[in-house]
Amino acid sequence: MDNEAEQPEFWDTAFNEKKEMWGFEPAKSAVITRDFFVAQSIKNVLIPGIGYGRNAAVFVEAGMSVTGIEISKAAIDMAKKHYGTDMTIYHGSATDMPFDNSRYDGIFCHALIHLLGEEDRKKLIRDCYDQLVDGGFMVFTIISKEASTYGQGKYISKDRYEMFGGVTLFFYDRESIADEFGNAGLLEVIEIEENYPFYLIKCKK
Ligand SMILES: C[S@@+](CC[C@H](N)C(=O)[O-])C[C@H]1O[C@@H](n2cnc3c(N)ncnc32)[C@H](O)[C@@H]1O
Repeated sequence: MDNEAEQPEFWDTAFNEKKEMWGFEPAKSAVITRDFFVAQSIKNVLIPGIGYGRNAAVFVEAGMSVTGIEISKAAIDMAKKHYGTDMTIYHGSATDMPFDNSRYDGIFCHALIHLLGEEDRKKLIRDCYDQLVDGGFMVFTIISKEASTYGQGKYISKDRYEMFGGVTLFFYDRESIADEFGNAGLLEVIEIEENYPFYLIKCKK
């Protein structure tokens, strides 16, 4: 594992200081994915990097059962406070998946994989794919090289920069998307504007 994948202190400090830093509205990507999952009759969803649960809520409201993975204990406590204690959230790094033997028919991973190094990104894609049922779908959202922050901060390696006080971001383009998701059932790539230009990647097992 790349060391920088394990940043519980960074995220705990961020959540303790900034609390619900993205508000209670879900990301656009979560709403799009919820609609897609509903259309595909998906019932069990895994959310690596679930944060304080603002995106999980839209899947739960649509009748899906949600399991999360989150590195920050502070974020898990906030998720439990706001969205109830029924949801299982494993405390740990998504790079240490699997956390259970379950198979999920949907996986939604928003703004997490681009925080990881190359080996951890590959492992996360493989581990998510392995936890899907046959015919299941996984959706990743990732920051694009079109983002204004691309190329800023400290250069780490090709398309990878350290910024925002200590996180490392890998900025994707169509080529790196094909490289990393091409063997994981890549189905569709959608451009979407979140707080930065993002790609939404749909894969099918
Ligand atoms: C950019 S935030 C997105 C949060 C959430 N998906 C949302 O939009 O509300 C990334 C989230 O992943 C968590 N995280 C970062 N690295 C992680 C890792 N290696 N394993 C699990 N969670 C991680 C952070 O604590 C944070 O909650």
